[in-house]
Amino acid sequence: MKDLHLKRLQQKRCVVTGAARGIGAEIARRFAAEGGDVIVTDKDFAGANAIADEIGGTARLLDVAGEDHWADFAKEFPQIDVLVNNAGITGFEESTRAQDPEHATLADWRAVHRTNLDGTFLGCRYAIGAMRAKGSGAIINISSRSGLVGIPGAAAYASSKAAVRNHSKSVALYCAEQGLAIRCNSVHPAAILTPMWDPMLGDGPDRTDRMAALVADTPLRRFGTVKEVAAVCAMLASDEGAYMTGVEINIDGGLLAGSIAAPVR
Ligand SMILES: NC(=O)c1ccc[n+]([C@@H]2O[C@H](COP(=O)([O-])OP(=O)(O)OC[C@H]3O[C@@H](n4cnc5c(N)ncnc54)[C@H](O)[C@@H]3O)[C@@H](O)[C@H]2O)c1
Repeated sequence: MKDLHLKRLQQKRCVVTGAARGIGAEIARRFAAEGGDVIVTDKDFAGANAIADEIGGTARLLDVAGEDHWADFAKEFPQIDVLVNNAGITGFEESTRAQDPEHATLADWRAVHRTNLDGTFLGCRYAIGAMRAKGSGAIINISSRSGLVGIPGAAAYASSKAAVRNHSKSVALYCAEQGLAIRCNSVHPAAILTPMWDPMLGDGPDRTDRMAALVADTPLRRFGTVKEVAAVCAMLASDEGAYMTGVEINIDGGLLAGSIAAPVR
């Protein structure tokens, strides 16, 4: 049968950060399937290389919090069409220390903001420069549902993701003011099953129960999938999203449609 699927990212150079695993890896796969020339970046070079090999892309070591890393990257890739600022941490990857507003350490607070917020700022700054000559492009910032509501137990994560949401709008308006068709949008996933959840879910016999408890308040009552996030990113990256800038798209199984604080009838 004839392949009717349109390849929406042909002749577009696409950079994805934090793409060695999880959501970023799936975005890289989807962009490659859409015909994009994909540069898979991560601070985990071996992981990025494995994904690049799988999809026929290029891998580069890029720690998004490192200004020097972005400077080197910009020298090598001075022109791109799409950037997904996906790399992010919760703060619980290597520590079980409290992250609430009363007990979080300043060092932990800053570490989360360094990757999630500074990384996104540096990525956007690079992308505007790398899209300016052509005058068009798409920047997609992976924020979170946690950037739209308070999260008492992960305050730095929530704060950093809220700032990513706001910065996306500043970037969108700045580019429009400059007469550039460089669009910038934020994506807000809720619970998407990736290795990010492993520290919280564990691998013991209660993993299934823990998963069910975590999505008990989600109207669709399940975790989302990485494919569901990648599909939205492909649309935003492509020319189909050409009139969308400064918007936020929730991918949350209906979680933000209502309020669990609403009185029960
Ligand atoms: N999984 C979810 O439920 C969920 C929900 C909302 C938002 N998000 C966001 O989606 C993005 C991806 O999440 P995920 O679940 O795939 O996470 P993950 O932990 O599975 O993968 C994150 C990747 O980012 C990389 N990374 C971390 N710090 C980096 C840095 N400084 N520079 C470059 N790479 C770095 C890691 O090496 C890893 O490959 C994150 O921004 C996360 O906050 C995830």
